[in-house]
Amino acid sequence: MKILVTGCCGYIGSHTCVELLNHDYEVVGLDNFSNSKKEVLDKISQITNKKITFYEGDMLDEHFLESIFKDNEISCVIDFAAYKAVGESVEKPVEYYINNVSSVLTLLKVMKQYDCKRLVFSSSATVYGNPVEIPISEAAKVGRTTNPYGTSKLFVEQILKDLYHSDPSWNIVILRYFNPVGAHPSGLIGEEPNGVPANLMPYISKVAKKELTCLSVFGNDYNTKDGTGVRDYIHVVDLAIGHIKALEKLLKDECGISIYNLGTGVGYSVLDIIHTFELVNGVKIKYKMVNRRKGDIAVCYSDPKKAKEELGFVCKRSLEDMVRDAWNYEKNKKL
Ligand code: NAD
Ligand code: UD1
Repeated sequence: MKILVTGCCGYIGSHTCVELLNHDYEVVGLDNFSNSKKEVLDKISQITNKKITFYEGDMLDEHFLESIFKDNEISCVIDFAAYKAVGESVEKPVEYYINNVSSVLTLLKVMKQYDCKRLVFSSSATVYGNPVEIPISEAAKVGRTTNPYGTSKLFVEQILKDLYHSDPSWNIVILRYFNPVGAHPSGLIGEEPNGVPANLMPYISKVAKKELTCLSVFGNDYNTKDGTGVRDYIHVVDLAIGHIKALEKLLKDECGISIYNLGTGVGYSVLDIIHTFELVNGVKIKYKMVNRRKGDIAVCYSDPKKAKEELGFVCKRSLEDMVRDAWNYEKNKKL
């Protein structure tokens, strides 16, 4: 059974390839290395003792995609290939909409041509905007996204709904990730942000490594237990396993179009993360309180019930595992 993974060398794609290979799926991967490195392919092989069939190229290139489908009988596509930097998306909206929306349209066109109608799509909790109710269930209203990155996810979700309504023989799972963090426990693959990290966990890791001097905590006047922002952090290996669960359901052609949150259902504050990182890893994180970051919300965590009931998906890894594996990757990395 061949599964095509787009963006297979990226942060979540690489961890998902590992889990797919561990579950004996044949993996065909594509990446253009716009935000990843070739060496990741060797690391995936080192962890699993197996190889993926890899194609280097751009998902916007229809002929490139056709050649992959011509060479391989693909049963399902898991689509990770996208740009993901929120700040950059505000500076470069056209590039983001082309890479995150047009590429999916190209993919869908080629999938249809080869009668491959099963897709897992990487969406984000960002589509909920500023949530009215916490925890956030899949039934919550989406919209009011605050940046082109978030809006690109919203657009693709709508495209997939329209596609399904035009042809119910498609089986589509949309996964809305909360805050993926951590790394594979081997320390061989992990998150590789470009430049200075915008997200909390990679920033803390760089402060621990003394590559950055001090973490700015964005706001301590939120209506939360300690005043700092609260999020639903999910270990990237749990997240990858969530894709296996979605795939299992998809391959039974039981999905129609289904949407699932992938989160733990537990919210931790910025100070919880700092203190747990310090305690588990025996390092000191220098931080200072600064103003709120524009566009941030106070609290965001998932209601994970639907994924548990319909996919049998439950997160097994704790916050301690997340901070330990994040630091293990950062301190040992040679890539
Ligand atoms: P990533 O940047 O690490 O991985 C994306 C991979 O896709 C990279 O290897 C990149 O080189 C490749 N790529 C990008 N555009 C491409 C194109 N046109 N053709 C071929 N390859 C291309 O990102 P990630 O963190 O692994 O995220 C994967 C997916 O999950 C993305 O769609 C992202 O928007 C979504 N997501 C991520 C997070 C997160 O916090 N990491 C949260 C919610 C949703
Ligand atoms: C961000 C993105 C979101 C994306 C998600 C993926 C923004 C506005 N939103 O969400 O679209 O889906 O990443 O993981 O960028 N914090 C600090 N100091 C820092 C960095 C972060 O205090 O240097 C705080 C934030 O204010 C927030 C928490 O840490 O309370 C988590 O921030 P971050 O890791 O950037 O994730 P999100 O903002 O939840």
